[in-house]
Amino acid sequence: MALLSRLRGPFAAGALRTRNKPFLAAAMASAAFVASTEDGVSFARRHALDQVLESVERLKAFEVHAAVDLFDDFVQHFRAAPERARARALKAIAALAGQAESAELLVRIAETVARAEGEVSAEVRARVGEIARALGVAEPEFETDGSAAAAAEARGARPTVIVLGNEKGGTGKSTTAMHLAIALADAGHRVGCLDLDGRQATLTRYMSNRKAFAKKHNLKIAMPMHRRLERSTARDRQAAEREEQVRFEAALRELADCRFIVIDTPGSESHLSRLGHARADILITPLNDSFLDIDVLARIDRDRHEVLEPSPYSRMVREENERRAADGRAPIDWIVMRNRLAHIDARNTREMARLLELLSKRLHFRLEPGFSERVVFRELFYHGLTLLDVPEDPKDARANASRKRAQAELGELVKALGIAEPARRKA
Ligand SMILES: Nc1ncnc2c1ncn2[C@@H]1O[C@H](COP(=O)(O)OP(=O)(O)OP(=O)(O)O)[C@@H](O)[C@H]1O
Ligand SMILES: [Mg+2]
Repeated sequence: MALLSRLRGPFAAGALRTRNKPFLAAAMASAAFVASTEDGVSFARRHALDQVLESVERLKAFEVHAAVDLFDDFVQHFRAAPERARARALKAIAALAGQAESAELLVRIAETVARAEGEVSAEVRARVGEIARALGVAEPEFETDGSAAAAAEARGARPTVIVLGNEKGGTGKSTTAMHLAIALADAGHRVGCLDLDGRQATLTRYMSNRKAFAKKHNLKIAMPMHRRLERSTARDRQAAEREEQVRFEAALRELADCRFIVIDTPGSESHLSRLGHARADILITPLNDSFLDIDVLARIDRDRHEVLEPSPYSRMVREENERRAADGRAPIDWIVMRNRLAHIDARNTREMARLLELLSKRLHFRLEPGFSERVVFRELFYHGLTLLDVPEDPKDARANASRKRAQAELGELVKALGIAEPARRKA
């Protein structure tokens, strides 16, 4: 008997190990999903994980280092490819759906790691919620605390969503998105960015260039939260759209404690882009100052100065507004912004202005000036900087004057939104 029990000990542990491997994977996936940030995992959360590994009976069957390796592997994946890591983690977690006891335990583990830092941000709460939904169990309730999210929720406030959109490439959507995000953050607001053009990912690259630049030069510059979504790869269109909707909603939940969410969209029609537009409080459509760009709004007869018919994009905005009207909701505040304005007041520019005035009445948008044509934008992108980050050069009066004018243009755009003071920043 004694021999048997001695044998059974390791044997049973081995059996438990194999049987519980999916549980270990799901537990480490949950912990990593909740604990991962772009900067790694905080000490408090690592400590919480250690305690989980010590106290959860079912995890004791595993070597601690095997569990930690798995956790670190998930964390690294989250840093390298957040979208794919999230899908992988949720898959490992969902494998335990339907096993009530395991599912409850997994949510408790996620909750423990989530609470390790005291205050639980909206983003972390959203992740715990996702884990619970993947498992088909109730989401844990986080008491409202003094966090920004809780305060916002208590006020009934939600972020103002600003979408940059048009169905034409290269008109300045991503550049404007970045400049607005930084201007609003500089003005003291909590800002989140969402890149729905995940394939080209200009805004995402802009933001990572900014991070790299700040790190290299040890600078403290505004750094909005950033999320990027890519199109679903599901073959079936309905499944793809469902998946995109779920991921889109999850991203918005993660940014829920921001005052503003700036959404960049691709220069062509897509389901993700439509989801973004459907959430817009303010839509900004940048147009290059050329007749070629007007067709993104409408087909026109240039000779007779007539609008022939709205473009598919304008129709999409109108349809969204009709849906809102039917629900008793306010329409999108649509701003068309003329970008890359030429300094010379050519006849074409004047004619363009007249046509846009006409269109603004027909299509119900506000017309606002954007940025002048400036070569500096390209270089700013490579450094991840905006017009607001360019320091004053006391020795170069001309450069300074130009910098001031450029900043004033951005200030005017922010003012036109009617939501915040123009960014105030020491030179
Ligand atoms: N006012 C401007 N003056 C000069 N260059 C500009 C200006 N605005 C944008 N650009 C440049 O035009 C190019 C396209 O801009 P951007 O990437 O912002 O456009 P986009 O609408 O996001 O394009 P896409 O539809 O491909 O996503 C970039 O090289 C950018 O630096
Ligand atoms: Mg873009």
